Amino acid sequence: MGRLDGKVIVLSAAAQGIGKAAAIAFAKEGAQVTATDINAEKLKELDGTPGIKTKVLDVTKKDHVEALAEEFDHVDVLFNVAGFVHHGTILDCGEKDWDFTMNLNVRSMYLMLKAFLPKMLAQKSGSIINMSSVASSIKGVANRCVYSTSKAAVIGLTKSVAADFLEQGIRCNCICPGTVDTPSLRERIEARPDPEQAFKDFMARQRTGRMCTAEEVAHLCVYLASDEVSTFSSCRLFLSITQRLGTHSQNQPGYIFGRFLLQICGQHICYIFRFFGSLHCSFLMQIMRVQDVHSH
Ligand SMILES: NC(=O)c1ccc[n+]([C@@H]2O[C@H](COP(=O)([O-])OP(=O)(O)OC[C@H]3O[C@@H](n4cnc5c(N)ncnc54)[C@H](O)[C@@H]3O)[C@@H](O)[C@H]2O)c1
Repeated sequence: MGRLDGKVIVLSAAAQGIGKAAAIAFAKEGAQVTATDINAEKLKELDGTPGIKTKVLDVTKKDHVEALAEEFDHVDVLFNVAGFVHHGTILDCGEKDWDFTMNLNVRSMYLMLKAFLPKMLAQKSGSIINMSSVASSIKGVANRCVYSTSKAAVIGLTKSVAADFLEQGIRCNCICPGTVDTPSLRERIEARPDPEQAFKDFMARQRTGRMCTAEEVAHLCVYLASDEVSTFSSCRLFLSITQRLGTHSQNQPGYIFGRFLLQICGQHICYIFRFFGSLHCSFLMQIMRVQDVHSH
């Protein structure tokens, strides 16, 4: 028996990276997955995978998104993955860069939520997972101005939807990974004037000595999509911290940060555990109940 048996899951940006790994992981756990992406060619790589149906979708196009939603009577999980990383400070970020990033990283989620949420409300259940990043309100990262701004907005959007629809059976959470080794990350490294140095700089930030893999993030996606966390409703922020914030030692910032949150959250819970310990990965995931919608 799979952990997601019979669940209907729709996700964006599934042709590569985290989205692709998540689509495969969802299907392996028994879900009926609709994997969408703007890149028709790359998406074909998923054709024939048991449990996965592919569909070309540009998440920035309202009519495309609405047409896709029309095809579903029932959706259990919506995973909004699509996002773009602009490199640079605010001074390097032209209005076009700003608009492109906010359109793809934030407005697309607004469109997907507006199209799919009514179906979840009608069925009185649903789990929404939005892709954010540690680069945002979690952590300031150099040369990620508009990207971080957009991902902070995703956290705000997630909290807002969670607060508004908790009583109607809707869970809304977001994932905030550190550096994940995906095709676009490699492309960004290659695009730097000195790719070798850029790779070294990325690696220097990884206390674990390696980057997180898309498959490791997919484990977390399965967990959030499953009924194992059906009590994890309301506004909770899921953080996967692999970089300077996360380590194994109790004296290290990740642990101290978790303890701090535990204190400010009063009776609320703060789970700190090694989610991927069995994979020999030094990947510390902190799941923190940062806020509860009832307190607002
Ligand atoms: N890779 C990382 O280090 C990392 C870390 C934290 C968060 N994230 C976030 O995870 C998400 C996925 O990143 P990744 O690196 O796994 O993937 P990626 O960047 O390698 O792939 C992105 C996918 O999105 C698709 N896409 C682009 N524009 C689209 C559009 N308009 N409509 C539909 N699909 C579109 C592309 O075709 C591609 O398949 C992004 O939101 C990213 O910001 C990535």
